[in-house]
Amino acid sequence: MTFSKTKLVALSLVIGCVGLGIGIIIGYFGIQESVPTENESIHKKLMKEISNERIEQNLWDITRKPHIAGRDTDEKVLVERIKNDWENAGLDSVVVHPYDVLLSYPLQSDSNYVALLDKDGNEYEVSQKKELVIDEEQNDPDVVNPFNAYSAPGTPSGDLVYVNYGTIDDFIELNRNVGISTSGKVCISRYGKIFRGDKAKHAEQYGCLGLILYSDPADYTVPWAGVYPSDWYLPPTGAQRGTLWVENGDPRTPNYPSISSAWHMSEMEIPLPKIPVTPIGYGDAWKYLEKLGGAEVPESWRGDLNITYRYGPGFNSHTESKIKMYVKTKNQAAIIHNVVGYIQGGVEPDRYVIFGNHRDAWVFGAIDPSSGTAVLMEMVRAFGKMVKQGWRPRRTLVFCSWGAEEYGLIGSTEWVEEFQKELQSRTVAYLNVDSAVNGNFTFRGSGVSSLRDVVFEAAKLVDNPDSAEVAAGRSTVYDTWKLKLADNDNLDIPYFGGLGSGSDYATFLQVIGICSIDLRYVYDYSTDLGSYPVYHSVYETFELVSKFVDPDFKFHQAVGRVWAEVGRKLSDSVVLPINCRLYAKDLQKKEDSLITEFGEKMSDHGIDLKLLQDAIQMFATAAEKIHNRADALKPNDFYANRALNDQLMQLERAFIDVNPLPGRISYRHVISAPSLHNNYGNTAFPGLVDAMFDIDADPDQEGRWDEVRRQYSILVFHILSAASTLGPVTLEQK
Ligand SMILES: *[C@@H]1O[C@H](CO)[C@@H](O)[C@H](O)[C@H]1NC(C)=O
Ligand SMILES: *[C@@H]1O[C@H](CO)[C@@H](O)[C@H](O)[C@H]1NC(C)=O
Ligand SMILES: [Zn+2]
Repeated sequence: MTFSKTKLVALSLVIGCVGLGIGIIIGYFGIQESVPTENESIHKKLMKEISNERIEQNLWDITRKPHIAGRDTDEKVLVERIKNDWENAGLDSVVVHPYDVLLSYPLQSDSNYVALLDKDGNEYEVSQKKELVIDEEQNDPDVVNPFNAYSAPGTPSGDLVYVNYGTIDDFIELNRNVGISTSGKVCISRYGKIFRGDKAKHAEQYGCLGLILYSDPADYTVPWAGVYPSDWYLPPTGAQRGTLWVENGDPRTPNYPSISSAWHMSEMEIPLPKIPVTPIGYGDAWKYLEKLGGAEVPESWRGDLNITYRYGPGFNSHTESKIKMYVKTKNQAAIIHNVVGYIQGGVEPDRYVIFGNHRDAWVFGAIDPSSGTAVLMEMVRAFGKMVKQGWRPRRTLVFCSWGAEEYGLIGSTEWVEEFQKELQSRTVAYLNVDSAVNGNFTFRGSGVSSLRDVVFEAAKLVDNPDSAEVAAGRSTVYDTWKLKLADNDNLDIPYFGGLGSGSDYATFLQVIGICSIDLRYVYDYSTDLGSYPVYHSVYETFELVSKFVDPDFKFHQAVGRVWAEVGRKLSDSVVLPINCRLYAKDLQKKEDSLITEFGEKMSDHGIDLKLLQDAIQMFATAAEKIHNRADALKPNDFYANRALNDQLMQLERAFIDVNPLPGRISYRHVISAPSLHNNYGNTAFPGLVDAMFDIDADPDQEGRWDEVRRQYSILVFHILSAASTLGPVTLEQK
């Protein structure tokens, strides 16, 4: 990649010397002539080298201060620390990439709040302006007050309406069936189920003046346990920060990098929220919901507060009162930084295996993301040590510490946008870890299905960090994963889910078609928690992690080991471990669900389902053939291996459309993407499925079905493209 670029933005002295090109390094090492076979012993040395104690020390260091994006605690202190560490670790090159982007902050001196207004306009039942300090360390002036990034500022007041989780179905239910118009009301939604940015989008779409977000005990506590500091559940004073940006990257530069030459869209044109949105804790929410009038809500809308949940509008016992929001959150430009380090490949330096983790946190971020950053730092040190001892990977390893992920994957997106041409032609895979450990229940790998087996193989090599599980005969990470989170269709293997848009893999996968995975240890997702309980609150501290999640940092260590081994395998294997047969199976499964859900309706509207079936069959045949060809390759036939690997590497690119999905900016993947209505999860065939959404209720039947037919043809085309990507390239292969 080209790094001899200078940016005109102001940079600190330490970052001044970034223009070092990896081109120099390529000249430096030269390309080895021999083709070594896969290095088997290195994986044991590498795993042994990754130390739980060093990870603990890293986490302690990183979480001494809050480190939000755009502020020196993150952009200077941690950037310098990581850059220095990586240089000392023996990486061949470490480059810092700054971007000038639009962020958002509340005012520290004039905090956001919610209050009731009596008939004379006096405020009472005012919500807390800061989260309660439980441990002295939380009493830090750099703790940002609770806010939702990119909220519009404003002080709306009006009648309050409860909108449950704020899903599109909840708003339809209220406005269409219950008969309560949310237009002109201040709405209150509980966190959970869907991305908060979509809650805000729905609230705006349904005419709300403002949106209050709160964490209900039903979603962030369990009835039989205590709350922080006596357990890890959310106390009533905790509030969940988080972004409202539903796309990815700097909102002012959609699809292009925020480099010094960038053109900025005017803020008026950017699809950021136009209404004020702010989060509160359940201690405060109780004060408003307890007084709410109107009919009782049905069971599925009830949370766990000790009240009768009602829809509103307005208040029962305080009939003349209104709710008021006071929101001073404002957009503000800031410089953010990615740190990118390289270990050059010994045989194929122009093929990249990329590891990434974000660095910025809303507050201390001991889970999100610093558990991952602590692991990344230790893993890089271990790889560096292998290099110092004379090892070199076959392909280039790239390590990325992203800035401003919390605001909307901004650092990773700007970098992918800046280097997209090189990344598309050279990247084998992107391996993400956000929070390395948000619980100690089981390991969980997710990603594109072609990478499933390489993750399984790595998980089988890593010792189980859970001693009770080892005692029960499950000696590896894989064993517990298979037991506690089995695949629904095959209980003999672990569940390996697809990727949504929750972290930095999104732009790699959704915009430039790089096959990606995401790894973490998780709490028991079968509980009804909306996330791990203290998510994005001031209570996400080192103490909480070391007391309630991973006292010995063995779970962190296990994630580091799986991550390192997946990357090493992708880097060292002569034939890339990308399994196209699994992709074919996955397509067939997605097609089955599509037909079960929409098949009849689609046929009734003249859509020939056989076209999709035939395309998937062609893909399956091509997948079968390319793996047969791979099996017949001679390991020392460099050109033949390289040619076939390029086909495997390019497979994912075939699913990227030239146009974004309808209604989106940063999503182009036609097989799997978050749907328009649920931004965290991933939906199979998103263009087509979004086109079908609520179609019966639309008076424009002809227009809607025409769009469905258009999306169907785009989908079929891309599957045929993927089949041709894998097809034979020489006469002998045909
Ligand atoms: C109900 O819950 C609120 C908020 O958590 C609390 O302040 C109050 O003491 C509780 N009341 C009863 C009767 O338990
Ligand atoms: C896992 O977390 C639970 C809940 O905080 C804790 O009680 C338990 O000791 C942890 N297990 C291990 C092996 O650390
Ligand atoms: Zn994160």
